[in-house]
Parts: sequence; C-alpha cells; structure tokens
Amino acid sequence: MARPARQFVCQECGAASPKWAGKCEACGAWNTLVEEVGEAHPHGRLPTGRASAAPAIAFVGLAGETAPPPRLPVGIAELDRVLGGGLVAASVVLVGGDPGIGKSTLMLQAAAALARGGRRVLYISGEESVEQIRLRARRLGLLDADLALAAATNLRDITQSLERERDAALVVIDSIQTMWLDALDSAPGTVSQVRACAFELIRAAKTQGFSLVLVGHVTKEGAIAGPRVVEHMVDAVLYFEGDRGHQFRILRGVKNRFGATDEIGVFEMTDRGLAEVANPSALFLAERRGNIAGSAVFAGLEGSRPVLLEVQALLAPAPGGSPRRSVLGWDGGRLAMLLAVLETRCGLRLAGSDVYLNIAGGLRVSEPAADLAVAAALASAASEQPADPGMVYFGEVGLSGEVRQVAQTEARLKEAAKLGFTDASLPRRLARGSRAPAAPEGLRLREIGHLADLVAGFAGKPAPR
Ligand code: TYD
Ligand code: MG
Repeated sequence: MARPARQFVCQECGAASPKWAGKCEACGAWNTLVEEVGEAHPHGRLPTGRASAAPAIAFVGLAGETAPPPRLPVGIAELDRVLGGGLVAASVVLVGGDPGIGKSTLMLQAAAALARGGRRVLYISGEESVEQIRLRARRLGLLDADLALAAATNLRDITQSLERERDAALVVIDSIQTMWLDALDSAPGTVSQVRACAFELIRAAKTQGFSLVLVGHVTKEGAIAGPRVVEHMVDAVLYFEGDRGHQFRILRGVKNRFGATDEIGVFEMTDRGLAEVANPSALFLAERRGNIAGSAVFAGLEGSRPVLLEVQALLAPAPGGSPRRSVLGWDGGRLAMLLAVLETRCGLRLAGSDVYLNIAGGLRVSEPAADLAVAAALASAASEQPADPGMVYFGEVGLSGEVRQVAQTEARLKEAAKLGFTDASLPRRLARGSRAPAAPEGLRLREIGHLADLVAGFAGKPAPR
C-alpha cells in the first residue's frame, strides 16, 4: 500500500491535508497546520483482505447475561466516585487539566494508594525525573508505597517493558504529550504522535488487562492538546479543574463508559498534597458573611451530590450608555433572561444598573435550579436588604416568572439542614394533593409560586439610582 509521503495535520482539530495552508479548511484555525510524516493510516495496522468464506464476526441478540465490570477502588473516595466506583480492568482513563493544577500529584497519590493495597502499579513519567518524583513522594508522605517508577518517553521501550508486566493493575502515563513513537517523524505532542502513542498504550491495556491512566494537558481553549483525538479513544475522560488562586480542585467526569458523567470529586491542595473534601458545602460557604445585601445561598446539586454555594450580586449605577452585565461561574444568557423576568414580571428596575454576578469560590454552576438563588441575590442587592442568612434557595424560573420544580428536592433540603440552615425557599407544589417534600427536622419550607412573591419578600425600596 502506498504511503503518503507527507501530510499536514491541524493541531487544533486533527484534520489532515496534503498541502500546507495558513488556515485549516476543516476548523478555520490559523497557523495550526504542521507537517507530519509517516502515518499511513491512523492506527498503523489495518487488517488485510480475508480469503476464507467464514464469517469474520458473530452477531448476537440484545438479551444476554453480562456481569458488571469488576471495580478496583483506588481508596481515594473522591476519585472513586468520579470513576463510578473505582478503576475497571483493561479500561483507559484520560485525566486532563491545566498545567500545574495538580494532575501529577493526584495520580501519584492514587498510584501510591493502590500500591499500598498490594497491587502492582507502574508510574511512567515523561515530564519529571525520577529524583523529582521521589522528592514529591517524600513531601506527600508516600515513600512507604511500593510503587514501580520510571522516567521514559520512548513508547517502544515502554510497551516492550509493559509486555513483561503480567500482573500490573494500573499503569500511569504522565503525560501522553511527552511520549513518542520512533516510527513517526513528527515531534512529541503533535496530533499523530499523541494519537499513535495513545493507540499503542490502549492496545497494551486491552490485551494485558491493566487499567491505564493517561495524563493530558489542556490548552487554553479548554481542549486536551493533541486535540481531542484521545478523548474518543478512551473509556473515561476526567477533567481536573480549579482556580489557581483557590486551594480547592474539582475532578469532573465528562465521559464515562462505565458510570455516570456528572459526578464531581472535591479536593483541597495543601502543602502535603491533595486532601479529600468530604463536605464541600462547608468549604464553599466558609468565607460567607451574613447580613450583606446581594448574597444568597443556592442549594445545588453536582452529580448525585448536593452542594451549597453562595451567589453574590452587585448592582452599580450605570450613568448613560449600555449597562454592564458581568458573570463569573454562571451563564450570561441565563442572567439576561432572569433580569428581563425580574424587570418585566416583578417590577424590579434594573435596566439602569451595571450587574455583577459571581458564584463565590470559583465553582461553575450550570443548573437552571440556581435561578431562584440568583434572583434572590439580585432582589436583595436591588432592595439593599440582606437575605435571611439561614435561608437556602433553589428553583427554576420560567419566562412568565413562574417558579418551576427541580430534581432532588429532598437531597438539597437535607444538605441545607446538615449545614445548619433553618429555612428553604423552593418551588410550590403544583398539584394540591401532591406529597410535600420530606423536610428534615428544623427546616421550614417556604414555597414560592411566582418570582414576584420572592421579590415582595425583600420589602425595601428599590436601590437609589
Ligand atoms: P502538579 O501535580 O505538578 O500539576 P500538573 O501535573 O497538573 O502539572 O502540581 C503542581 C502544583 O501543585 C505546584 O504549583 C505545587 C502544588 N503542590 C502543592 O501545593 N502541594 C503539594 O504537596 C504538591 C506536591 C504540589
Ligand atoms: Mg504533571
């Protein structure tokens, strides 16, 4: 089969073209085409034609016994939850995140936890020397873990060594961008190298049955570099995110063939590595000051887990021109909608004010259930009257101002009670006879049918403008 002598591959989207151009035809990115040689077809070894008449594949029906895949819990509960209960043998996880966010720290701690449990764990780093990793392990107090450590980047050497590892439970590759196959001429980190190296490693994991973790750096645009080509090849994709200015880190599942994808794990970066945060609500609310206008607590949900967050709103007079709307941690379009509903349906005058909205702590909220808490923060800011510091809010707001039901009411209420809140504002039950949510002891429920009722609760005058 004739190999194309050369091709130019877009480093953003992975599209190949036979000649160089300033702009990628496929995704429109500029200056992203890089010459990559020697990749006849992405996976290197396509089967040749079959001579025999026997069918190559056997078809089966939908019904049939399939046991759930056995799980190997790592022993770090926040990580295990995002994985869906632990690592699955012969499966591949991609852990992505910004450089310096703590991916290597997390994986070294995970590897050590498994090794302490008596499993054979291999940690291969292409980013740091063995000495550097030992230093980090000493700082993290992991020296007692019997971990097999290597600094290597040549993928042929790595796969050859892995073939001799018959009882490895976990192999960590840190990072996939530093690995290279000598059969390809392109530089490590290019699309063809990343794709080919991932393919070879995944094949080794599937044939030998170990769990494989690939660490990958994220580019500024939020895609894992070696762009996206690895994401669809792996079984699970976890993003490790957080604000470098804050000490907490969120591990978020965005793809999981063996579990739910909306789970998060919460960690805190300390001087002795990542500590699990079993009670994220307390962490996110730690810096809250009661009795300040413009603050409301949202009883949210991240995956299966309730999390309380503080929503902060600030209104400032906007003399002339178009007022600013600035949002951190929430959707700008949703804020615009909510402002329109408050203005049109509830008579709150906001058009002449700059609006700043922030989810304190740096977490990003995507639930519509946050509408009611955002509205409360805005109404509180507009009336200059603090919200009840013992109150949590949740509920979706529709365009006519009606407050709509959201999922998992009881889990939200329970979390609020656990953290000492005494009141909850929530959507009114539609049907008369419908069952009231089981309110935990000591929590008063305030059902809200229309947003205007919530606004009326902030009885003060509209803010001076
Ligand atoms: P690292 O795991 O190297 O990040 P990544 O692999 O994602 O690039 O983490 C690096 C940062 O974490 C670095 O800025 C120092 C900080 N850190 C701590 O604060 N405490 C620790 O115990 C460790 C090991 C790192
Ligand atoms: Mg690293």
